[in-house]
Amino acid sequence: MEIYQDKLYALADSIRAREKGDVVYLRGIIEFSNYCRRNCLYCGLRRDNTKLGRYRMSPEEIIKRAKEVAALGIKTVVLQSGEDPYYKLKDLVGIVSRIKELGVYVTLSIGELSTHAYRELKKAGADRYLLRHETANRKLYEVLHPDGSFFNRVRCLYALKDLGYEVGAGNMVGLPGQTDDMLWEDLLFMEKLQPEMVGIGPFIPHPDTPLAKEKGGTLEQTLTMIALTRIILPKANIPATTALGTIHPEGRELGLKVGANVVMPNMTPQPYRPLYQLYPGKICVNEDPDACLPCLKRRIESIGRTII
Ligand code: SAM
Ligand code: SF4
Ligand code: FES
Repeated sequence: MEIYQDKLYALADSIRAREKGDVVYLRGIIEFSNYCRRNCLYCGLRRDNTKLGRYRMSPEEIIKRAKEVAALGIKTVVLQSGEDPYYKLKDLVGIVSRIKELGVYVTLSIGELSTHAYRELKKAGADRYLLRHETANRKLYEVLHPDGSFFNRVRCLYALKDLGYEVGAGNMVGLPGQTDDMLWEDLLFMEKLQPEMVGIGPFIPHPDTPLAKEKGGTLEQTLTMIALTRIILPKANIPATTALGTIHPEGRELGLKVGANVVMPNMTPQPYRPLYQLYPGKICVNEDPDACLPCLKRRIESIGRTII
């Protein structure tokens, strides 16, 4: 079995080298609010988690931090949050257009919105949108998302595509009740959608959620899914995710060796960072706000790649 696994990894790595070269793309992520109106069973930000201290950054704070990120030479700013209705569409449009003036790409990851909102944000300058499909198995999706539907998730992904966003889909690996067949469903779903980006990470159980006692996804399973994704979507941008770096000290380097070509340094300012607690043990939360960039640079160079 192991020998086939090695061959799979080597094939994925060679496709990554051919399609993407040896450069690793940086996407600086600012987690600007941990309020969420939804109750996804797996997530520490779910609204019923009353143990979590909540924060939201003001538009001015977000723009100031984006300026600092751009000044560090990072060319993509990712704005991520829970689904927080506090920010009205006009606020978000204002934030995106001000950040675009910095000459960076803007990626949004703020959940399910109306097609109208996605259109206005695109007009304001948003370039990309990350909205993982989480699992392509409708039944499992609906168990995990008591206040969501797979239909609406898929509607959002196709609406974003139609509007001309570069779209990021992706799934968690090792979810309770997820079978190997369901992971094949994820691959088939993505082959059909043809997303420009794919975020794949292990599920990590959070103690203050209904899934506290479940098992998490493994390193091997996650690396296998990254490798298979690289093979079916040779041109996709695939991050070596923070969750992968959380379940193994070299998880991100290993991800980069089996098909991934992107890293997302955490650029959320303090004191907010530890509060964006999707899962326990999240790496980088106690670091100085600018520490992730040199750290990732070192890690990437250690495996013979360079950052851009
Ligand atoms: N609220 C937006 C959404 O759900 O699309 C964006 C932010 S959400 C926190 C970002 C991602 O975190 C989700 O797509 C999910 O895959 C991941 N996530 C949440 N809880 C997790 C957990 N316990 N383990 C691993 N990943 C998790
Ligand atoms: Fe909210 Fe996103 Fe977490 Fe679901 S995954 S509870 S939408 S932050
Ligand atoms: Fe954040 Fe290493 S990447 S401290």
